[in-house]
Order: sequence, then C-alpha cells, then structure tokens
Amino acid sequence: MLIRTGRDGFQHPLASEITPPAVYESRRRLMRLWAAGAAGAALAGWAQREALGQQAPRPGKLAPLPAATSQIPGAVTMEKVTDYQDATSYNNFYEFGTDKSDPAAQAHRLVTRPWSVEVDGLVRKPARFGIEDLLALAPQEERVYRLRCVEGWSMVIPWVGYSLSRLIDRVEPLGSAKYVEFVTQADPKTMPGLRSSVLEWPYVEGLRLDEARHPLTLLAFGMYGEVLPNQNGAPLRLVVPWKYGFKSGKSLVRIRFTETEPRTAWHKAAPAEYGFYSNVNPAVDHPRWSQATERRIGEGGLFAKRRKTLMFNGYEAQVGQLYAGMDLRKQF
Ligand code: MTE
Repeated sequence: MLIRTGRDGFQHPLASEITPPAVYESRRRLMRLWAAGAAGAALAGWAQREALGQQAPRPGKLAPLPAATSQIPGAVTMEKVTDYQDATSYNNFYEFGTDKSDPAAQAHRLVTRPWSVEVDGLVRKPARFGIEDLLALAPQEERVYRLRCVEGWSMVIPWVGYSLSRLIDRVEPLGSAKYVEFVTQADPKTMPGLRSSVLEWPYVEGLRLDEARHPLTLLAFGMYGEVLPNQNGAPLRLVVPWKYGFKSGKSLVRIRFTETEPRTAWHKAAPAEYGFYSNVNPAVDHPRWSQATERRIGEGGLFAKRRKTLMFNGYEAQVGQLYAGMDLRKQF
C-alpha cells in the first residue's frame, strides 16, 4: 500500500483512499475464499456476488425474507445459481400432480396461513409452533445448496432458513429418540394430486437424529431472498443437500421424534428403489438407471453435456463421517 505523507506531516490517507469497512470486509472474505482454494479458477457468478457481500437475485414476486449469508462451512456453493423461473416451474410436488409443470399450475390453491407445525414424539417439550413463531425462532440465513433429484437433474438454489437443529434444541429430544419423521400437508380440498394413489398420503420423510441435527440440514422458509413459492413447499420445508431431493419434504405440518426408523412415502411406494438413507451416491445405481451423472437445469436442453454426480452431492467433507463404517451399497 502506498502511504502518503500529508502537508501537515501526519500520515493519513485521502478520503478517496479509505476503503469502506463493508467493502474491506468482503475483500477479506474473497481473499479467504481464494486462500481456501474454494473459489478456484472459475470464480463466477454467485461466488463473486457472495464474496462482495451481495445477496442472491431478488425476483420481486413474493414477500422479501431478509437473511444474512450463512457462515456454516459448506453452506454456500460457488456454482452458478439456477434461474428463478426454472426453479419455480420444474418441480416435484406430487400433491399437485406428477407432471413437472403441475405444481406451478396448481399450487396457488395451497392455503399457507394460518399454519402450524406439531413437534412431538420422544421429546421433553412437545409443542405446536405457529408459522410466525417458527420464522422468528432463529436468525434467517441465506445458503446456496445444490439440489440433486434422484431422476438425474440438479439445480443450485439460494435458500433462506436456519439449521433444523435450532428447532430440535427447543423441544429437547429424549435419549430414546433416534429418528425424526417429517409429515407434510395432505388436504384433499386444495391438493388435487391426492386423488392419485401414486404415493401413500400424507407424504412422509425421515432422517436419523444425527442427520437431522447436522448444521447443513435446513428448515427453509424462503428462496431467492423471498418467501417460498407454494410449488417449492411454502410456508416451510426441509432441505437436506447431500441427499436426493425427495428427502426434502415440502409444506411440513408435523415433526415427530421416534425410536424406530420412520416408514417413508417413497420407500413404501417402491422399497427396492428408494432406501431410507437416499444419500446422493454416484456408485449406487437406481435399479432402473445410473446415478453417475446429472443434468444441471438451465444448462442447455436434454442433450447438454451431463455433469459427474459427486459423492454426497459434493458435501462429503461435511457429512461423510455420519456414515463411517456403513455399507452404503446395502444401506442406500
Ligand atoms: N414434498 C412433498 N410434500 N411432496 C413431494 O412430492 N417431492 C420431493 C421433494 N419434496 C415432494 C416433496 C422431490 S422428489 C424433490 S426432487 C423435491 O421436493 C423437489 O423440490 P423443488 O421442486 O423445490 O425443486
């Protein structure tokens, strides 16, 4: 740095040379990213925006949900964020139909207020939480996660929420609690997909308690800086970035702590195809197709070059030790 000596003999920089603290801080973060090798040669789009303290694109369609960028290791991927339009029009939400475009067309029927979530089972302090209390329970963070669907496509989405562990701590699980079951909304009046028997309703998902407590397991209330669109699981959903997308239950109404492994909707529908763990694992094929590669939505059409799928969807450093000693071919 060039140090100038002023006319009065003191060394002080010109006003124009003083870096505002916010810019200085974000430069330091950028340097840290580079030092960690995280930014890499392709420091593109989101990485620069994040390093410079800018937030995800705000589409301006729904109510804003302000959030600070998460500081949890691994919580902000540097990859290009998927277009909001793609993330909100190519969805799986079978309660509104099995076609990718059905949720965007039908989910306006979903009534998201009033909304509450029953948190019960093997806990010391069971409670029913209203959505407003849940929104305020912990500071909202912005996290940019890859979401990899078992069908072989993926997206990169800036979610807003906080670690599910913040809610888990509130209810104080008993020593006997080993699993967490997530039950989602099933309202035949607003969800036309319930007429189909493709899945058993309500949609149920489950995690082991240590998976649920992992800091990357997100209770999400928003995306792209705004509240969740209905088709993406309003008013709150789960996002478990190292597992196939179907583990991320939408429009949660009940969270129950159990001693035994919950029977999940996809496992009940096709036990040989969808195991309890459902960790993203390129080495374990789906019985009907390979899981070795994926198509990133927005990167050209069906014939675009596919990406290699990463073990645990790229979150191995953060979550690999949860599965130490397990045979992931058997426990898929
Ligand atoms: N949650 C409910 N309640 N119903 C569903 O059909 N689909 C799952 C998951 N959560 C589903 C659900 C699947 S298969 C995927 S890939 C993700 O939601 C898709 O989330 P997205 O539409 O926000 O990308």
